[in-house]
Amino acid sequence: MTRSHALLGVDIGGSGMKGRLVDAVSGQLLTDRFRVPTPQPATPPTVSKAFGAILEHFDWHGPVGCTFPGVVGAQGMILTAANMDPAWIGVDAAALFGEHDGATEVVMVNDADAAAIAEDAVGAAADVPGVVLVVTFGTGIGSGLIANGHLVPNTEFGHIEIDGVAAEVNASSRAKDRDGLDFNGWIPRVNRFLQTIEDLVWPDLIVFGGGISKHFDRYRDRLDCRTPVVPATLQNEAGIVGAAMHAAGNS
Ligand code: BGC
Repeated sequence: MTRSHALLGVDIGGSGMKGRLVDAVSGQLLTDRFRVPTPQPATPPTVSKAFGAILEHFDWHGPVGCTFPGVVGAQGMILTAANMDPAWIGVDAAALFGEHDGATEVVMVNDADAAAIAEDAVGAAADVPGVVLVVTFGTGIGSGLIANGHLVPNTEFGHIEIDGVAAEVNASSRAKDRDGLDFNGWIPRVNRFLQTIEDLVWPDLIVFGGGISKHFDRYRDRLDCRTPVVPATLQNEAGIVGAAMHAAGNS
């Protein structure tokens, strides 16, 4: 295998920051994953230091694709940070992370958009034509919308209002834990969210992602929406793979 398509993919999450070298064309993972805890508070300088530690671990000198759990505007400007430190808003993350010598170029992408890119290219939605909606359930709810292979960035469907609050407030997996719900208690909230979105977007397929998707078999029969729903296949690696593919221009 040639290393010419190797890129460093970095995934910034609420509790961990993970990096891995990825073949950005095939989506193949080239190294083990290196994880550092997300510093608390997760401000731009502390997160940038942890980003530097990931570069150092891989002794990397080259382009980097990096996710962020908020709206990512043009050139890597962070525009929202619902579940991160508000100090991120207005920060040019690509420029900040690009201050590290090892990062010759940094391309930022929303975390759920990265997951959607990866699932569409090499995961659960590979070869599925039409409109694919990837939803990720975690601390928040992320969404990534792909139409015939093209990403519509920053859809933010987790913030659609249901009963006067952002959907993620009650239907994320953090809300499940916070309210002490089992799957029976949580899935009706998820159904309400999926039904709301499918009435607006009419996707051909919904890919159910986030850490909780590994238990998909335990609640799949209780999912109730007209769109076919399949579990994500890349799970924890989707962000890293999608970020690398996006940075290489393969999305
Ligand atoms: C953010 C999204 C993000 C999602 C999952 C939401 O609160 O607004 O940008 O994709 O959480 O991390």
